[in-house]
Amino acid sequence: MNETSTFRDTQHANIPSGHAMPAPDQASILLAEALKPGAASSRTALAADALLALTQKGLEGDAAAYAQYQSILLDLHLPGEPRTEPTRRWLASQIYQVEDRFAPALPDFRVLPVDEFRAKVDAEIASRTRVRHPMSLHLFQGAPPLRDVRLFLRHHWNRSYNFYSLLAELAFRFEAIHDASVFYRNLYGEAGAETPERAHPTLLAQLMAYFDIPLRVDFAALDPLEKAYINNRIRCVRHTDVAWGLSLVYAVESVSCVNHLRIYELLQRMGVPEGPCEFHRLHGTQDEIDTEEMWELIAKFAHDESFQRTFMQSLTRHFDINRAYFDMLWRQMQGQHIH
Ligand SMILES: [Fe+2]
Repeated sequence: MNETSTFRDTQHANIPSGHAMPAPDQASILLAEALKPGAASSRTALAADALLALTQKGLEGDAAAYAQYQSILLDLHLPGEPRTEPTRRWLASQIYQVEDRFAPALPDFRVLPVDEFRAKVDAEIASRTRVRHPMSLHLFQGAPPLRDVRLFLRHHWNRSYNFYSLLAELAFRFEAIHDASVFYRNLYGEAGAETPERAHPTLLAQLMAYFDIPLRVDFAALDPLEKAYINNRIRCVRHTDVAWGLSLVYAVESVSCVNHLRIYELLQRMGVPEGPCEFHRLHGTQDEIDTEEMWELIAKFAHDESFQRTFMQSLTRHFDINRAYFDMLWRQMQGQHIH
């Protein structure tokens, strides 16, 4: 059962900045103990108890607990010592279960025929577009200074440089090759097809180089709302219920073309050469085939009421987190740091 429907409203009003690391608390200490070589399984259980309590406190509205649980979850998600990988995956999966209990309540939800369900999903995605966000209006319809464009692009890199790994994680969830291949075809494009130099992260890295933006991300220093955005993407594609991941990737792909086209046009107005612009030219002008193919896969599951509900919960949470994240970036851009 849902314990609250105010996920989006409980955190971003008074979250402390991620630039100041909180002192290690009980959960962090127990986690470090659990990840030591040769740690007893009882250590893992103790760490799990502390992490789940922290997650619940954070999702109930405690801003400091929210910031810390997102920080720890990101540590569990990021590549680390291979030896600790199974423990980190398991602990993250336990956190997902607490997050499930706090999924958006959707009081008006009702199951629909599949074609009507798609219309509802697409309408929800359209209504949550970033296009009307004040930061988008500033960047794409105004005359933004270079430092604002650099800030935006730095965070663009943070959240999207490893999109391919989301596709790979989700692909593993489908046993039938026909289903999984939807993501493998997408991955083939992400990897640059037969031309590794045209791998999408490589193309985006060229833009970062042009703007002198370092590729190394200091994840610990990210704002809790950015950590939450990155964590939610990873959570959805790793969740055992594919409704979470299908919804997330469908939402991301559906808005990809329009969002990238706006960035491409901005870069053109700024006189950025075609080479560094290639990532955004490519994503801003490609056709919608990925989305159509993905919907065919979604339609196979969409007769199920529980799938439809979870899919909509995933969509709602993604956009709520996205909104809070973009509001935070906009505050940063305006120089209104909250610390
Ligand atoms: Fe891409």
